[in-house]
Amino acid sequence: MPDGADPTPRRMVPRHVAVIMDGNGRWAAKRGLPRLAGHRRGVEALRGVVEACPDFGVETLTLYAFSTENWRRPPDEVHGLMQLFRRYLRREAAELAEKGVRVRFIGDRAALAPDIRALMAGVEERTALGERLTVVMAINYGGRADILAAARALAADAARGARDPAEVDEATFEAALQTAGLPELDLVIRTSGEQRISNFLLWQAAYAEFVFAPELWPDFDRDAFARALAAFGARERRFGAVRA
Ligand code: IPE
Ligand code: IPE
Ligand code: MG
Repeated sequence: MPDGADPTPRRMVPRHVAVIMDGNGRWAAKRGLPRLAGHRRGVEALRGVVEACPDFGVETLTLYAFSTENWRRPPDEVHGLMQLFRRYLRREAAELAEKGVRVRFIGDRAALAPDIRALMAGVEERTALGERLTVVMAINYGGRADILAAARALAADAARGARDPAEVDEATFEAALQTAGLPELDLVIRTSGEQRISNFLLWQAAYAEFVFAPELWPDFDRDAFARALAAFGARERRFGAVRA
């Protein structure tokens, strides 16, 4: 096709990227370190990707930090991860706010410790005016739980006569999900070579592109992120239609 002849200009840079930050445990095991050492290095990788987003033109970054299934891990690992969240939320809030990053959380907070919930609320409040980048942290998040909670809320509305079930459409349903108001999900990156969704954004990923990066999460640096974004740029998204 000659230059400029593409009739449907497409966005080469994804607006909304979600990342399944996987491989911390293997990163540590390779070095004979405890798994928690891998999680600690994972926080550093997270910092790097957050910083790169505005440079690369990504507007929303959703990070899978803890799944509803991760409670199945040994108690000391769960405890260590919770400690890391605490430390991250305490230490980074000011810098995130300063950098124009707005932080939001998705996931069921009820199961989290009250002090973590308070830290989360504080970070959301402190960063509420950020306009350079939105970071969505998925903590105790599960795609099925998200969908179920939305269905339950809509059913409750209908049961008390506040909503006509026949009028529940995709937009209504989407607005009842925890991701309400975020841009359409364009790209899901999973690190560490695993190729599955592990109960992440099940509804939201309907037409997302997937990039499975070979790097373990602590090794996922700016260059690896750039490669994943370049892979997205080379994809042809069809959304069920036929491209002219
Ligand atoms: C991802 O790394 C971090 C979390 C799930 C919190 P893993 O801990 O799953 O690392 P691997 O998959 O065991 O290597
Ligand atoms: C997915 O990784 C969850 C997070 C990255 C937070 P897991 O390591 O928990 O997923 P599985 O168990 O390999 O599917
Ligand atoms: Mg894993």
